[in-house]
Amino acid sequence: MLAARLVGPSGEVVGIERDPRSIARARARVEEAGLRNVSFTQSDVNQIQSGKPFDAAVGRLILMWLPDPVSVLRQLSLLVRPGGVFAFQEASWVPVLAHLAPLPLWLATASLIHETIRAGADPEMGPNLYQKFQEAGLPAPAMRMELSLRKDPDLARWYYDTVCSLLPQMQRLHLPTESLGNLDTLVERLQAEVAGSKSVACWFASVTAWSRKP
Ligand SMILES: C[S@@+](CC[C@H](N)C(=O)[O-])C[C@H]1O[C@@H](n2cnc3c(N)ncnc32)[C@H](O)[C@@H]1O
Repeated sequence: MLAARLVGPSGEVVGIERDPRSIARARARVEEAGLRNVSFTQSDVNQIQSGKPFDAAVGRLILMWLPDPVSVLRQLSLLVRPGGVFAFQEASWVPVLAHLAPLPLWLATASLIHETIRAGADPEMGPNLYQKFQEAGLPAPAMRMELSLRKDPDLARWYYDTVCSLLPQMQRLHLPTESLGNLDTLVERLQAEVAGSKSVACWFASVTAWSRKP
């Protein structure tokens, strides 16, 4: 939707996603926003086809899940015109774990999420974009890291929701979920811990990297 607003009504944005449920949700949001220049293609990112070159390839929280992100960047490069933009945003958890050190329950919750992601993805894909872009034949990217610092109950709820959705994987990995205590009261306990401290909590750090195809 951000890209659609940037290119304007005469431009075109194609969203690639393999999960039809995510496409349905995204389509509904695009319609609600009144954007007419966005279409979706249900495809694996390894198999994108296009008859015409794109001006930009933009992705968020996708490369971290791929077994071979460099090969996907290389294939995307064939679909982008020379001078076209590559802009990717991916996560980093190292600053999160460091920042949450004074908040033991937040740290335990973030550590479990981090361990679970680490078992199937690269939680440091953000900082790794510098190397991945270059391995794919792109120039060294400009990069920026952003860490949202918050003290409101919504953030405790995001952590709780993430733990709940990852719980089956955590149990499969035999991670010590009991260290979080009763999940029914996790939001209240997280909120009480940060409210009674001099610290602020944080969500994962986003790292953005961008460069232009030579
Ligand atoms: C964390 S979500 C990010 C979604 C969206 N880019 C955003 O920032 O809100 C990761 C998405 O990548 C999709 N995905 C993972 N592997 C994929 C692949 N090989 N091809 C296409 N989509 C994939 C998943 O279905 C999921 O919707």
